[in-house]
Amino acid sequence: MNTAATRTMQAIVQDRYGTTPENVLRLAELARPTIADDEVLVRVHAASVDRGTWHIMSGLPSLMRVIGFGFRRPKAPNPGRALAGTVESVGSNVTDLAPGDEVYGTGDGSFAEYVRASAGRLAHKPANLSFEDAAAVPVSALTALQAVRDGAHVQAGERVLIIGASGGVGTFAVQIAKAFGAEVTGVCSTAKVELVRTLGADHVVDYTRDDFADGEHRYDVILDIGGNSPLSRLRRTLTARGRLVIVGGETDGRWLGGFDRQVRAQLLSPFTRQKLAMIAASENTKDLIVLRELIESGKLAPAIDRTYPLSDVAAAVRYLHEGHARGKIAITV
Ligand SMILES: NC(=O)c1ccc[n+]([C@@H]2O[C@H](COP(=O)([O-])OP(=O)(O)OC[C@H]3O[C@@H](n4cnc5c(N)ncnc54)[C@H](OP(=O)(O)O)[C@@H]3O)[C@@H](O)[C@H]2O)c1
Repeated sequence: MNTAATRTMQAIVQDRYGTTPENVLRLAELARPTIADDEVLVRVHAASVDRGTWHIMSGLPSLMRVIGFGFRRPKAPNPGRALAGTVESVGSNVTDLAPGDEVYGTGDGSFAEYVRASAGRLAHKPANLSFEDAAAVPVSALTALQAVRDGAHVQAGERVLIIGASGGVGTFAVQIAKAFGAEVTGVCSTAKVELVRTLGADHVVDYTRDDFADGEHRYDVILDIGGNSPLSRLRRTLTARGRLVIVGGETDGRWLGGFDRQVRAQLLSPFTRQKLAMIAASENTKDLIVLRELIESGKLAPAIDRTYPLSDVAAAVRYLHEGHARGKIAITV
């Protein structure tokens, strides 16, 4: 008999670190997760890929292994974080969600048919989004919201420069900064200029042709989400009391992956009139509700480039890592 204890599911597994997605990520048959009192079992309909997926798969930069992701192999054997799906069952302490509810949020191992998620990291799905669209939101848009609102405190009328405007976080950040009333300049590569314009950016700088730090333009806020510009370059592009928020940026740096730049910004900030900060995004129901309201009021929409089936997660991770993605990559389950 297929009892609850023996029920299985299809899920992506990673039991070692590696930089070739096809060698690391494989589809397997696993037991469905069981839930604790504060948790929810979600039947996943869609998930999405972000830069974190690649970092956890590769174990790079090595700093990640030291701070708890697993020294020799990933501690979490099932990749995937953002999700959208239907509540299958809830723990005894969960009162806001019930079986059958359509939800979105985050849970460890979302590249799977079922995932256990903390109730505090889920919310009802925006009514006007498909599961694929909704699954694109949780990690990247939470980061964008917290960078714009809590990191930079963007005010209406301010000039905001968004470096990495065409990526997962950036496509949301452009729209959220516009929703806050800012004048937005997006920075991206040639092939993605049109996308960033259609998201509502007032100006777009193609970094392969023009330099955003040309000395002619200064910004009240810079959100640095891609490219790893030196701090000195960012600072001379800010106004005298401007705010820099470093979200991330990929480098070949094997040990720190550019994280030293974030630390230097934090250390320098008390000694300048400019405010230099980094953010570490928090996954929580409250902000998923804020995002849902922005989405349902038509101010925010995910930009999905491609959708892959669960069996092709490796190809999806490769596509993102090679820098092709315009916005987000969704996974259908
Ligand atoms: N702090 C946090 O809590 C947090 C949360 C989520 C993500 N992150 C980090 O944020 C970063 C972005 O994540 P993501 O998911 O948005 O990645 P993504 O989808 O791969 O986007 C990367 C962006 O960087 C841009 N870029 C690449 N090279 C550049 C260059 N030389 N100059 C300017 N822009 C350049 C890309 O533009 P083109 O594609 O047009 O070249 C693209 O817009 C990653 O490092 C990620 O780890 C941090």
